[in-house]
Amino acid sequence: RMMGQHVRSKDQETRLAHTLKISHCIIVPGNSDEDTRILEDMGHAAIKALDFLLPVGKNVVAVMGGTTMVEVAHAMDEKFGENRQLLFVPARGGLGESVDIQANVIAETMARKSGGKSRALYVPDHVRSDTYSLLSEEPEIKETLQLVENASLVLYSIGSAFEMAERRGMNDAKLRLLKEKNAIAEAFGEFVNPKGEIVYKLSRIGLQSSQMGRIPHVVAVAGGRRKAKAIEAYVKTVPPHTWLVTDEAAANEILNGG
Ligand code: F6P
Repeated sequence: RMMGQHVRSKDQETRLAHTLKISHCIIVPGNSDEDTRILEDMGHAAIKALDFLLPVGKNVVAVMGGTTMVEVAHAMDEKFGENRQLLFVPARGGLGESVDIQANVIAETMARKSGGKSRALYVPDHVRSDTYSLLSEEPEIKETLQLVENASLVLYSIGSAFEMAERRGMNDAKLRLLKEKNAIAEAFGEFVNPKGEIVYKLSRIGLQSSQMGRIPHVVAVAGGRRKAKAIEAYVKTVPPHTWLVTDEAAANEILNGG
């Protein structure tokens, strides 16, 4: 019976990857909306994927923030860092997240747990665009951004547009704009519509989804039935070599058309 279940879930993973037009999917049983243990399982599955994808030796890993990434960071361990010299860097700054779920903190936790190193990327949340340009020329920021661009792997999550907009404290006018533009998903501070078109950008410093194609390994971690539509939409913007770690609830919703 266990064997049968395993085969069935492998088959579902293949079907999901095919539907989403990406190279690989990992589906953990359950619905992370209802049970936080499922989120932990996704965290462990993500570390297994990273362990499979990342070569031994020197690696720069670019990470994003969010509650899903917090779980991935918890699942990180020394064994993962054993044959690797790891440097964790935030992929993007200035998203308006609370401190405990910021990419800076995720990078630092992952470094501590794997025996690696990390670098922070401090970018204020709401600054004028000429300030952004000046900031990206700051030597320390510039150096971190170069590391991000040359990362071996980028690890991030995907959120539902309005949930994320509210979490980042976007004002009513911005929320209206997102509604008008039919925003459904968000990642990297980029809001996309159901067709996967970017309709609004929050932050201007760091990795953009359009640059992901150049990163050798891309791993997205997102699950829960409530995120199914967001995952489906956002994945339209990602490079085909993307791996997705998700849960059964999101997978069923995507495969059965919701
Ligand atoms: O803020 C970083 C981020 O990865 C977003 O880009 C994404 O939409 C969100 O976190 C997901 O958050 P959570 O894991 O808390 O649902």
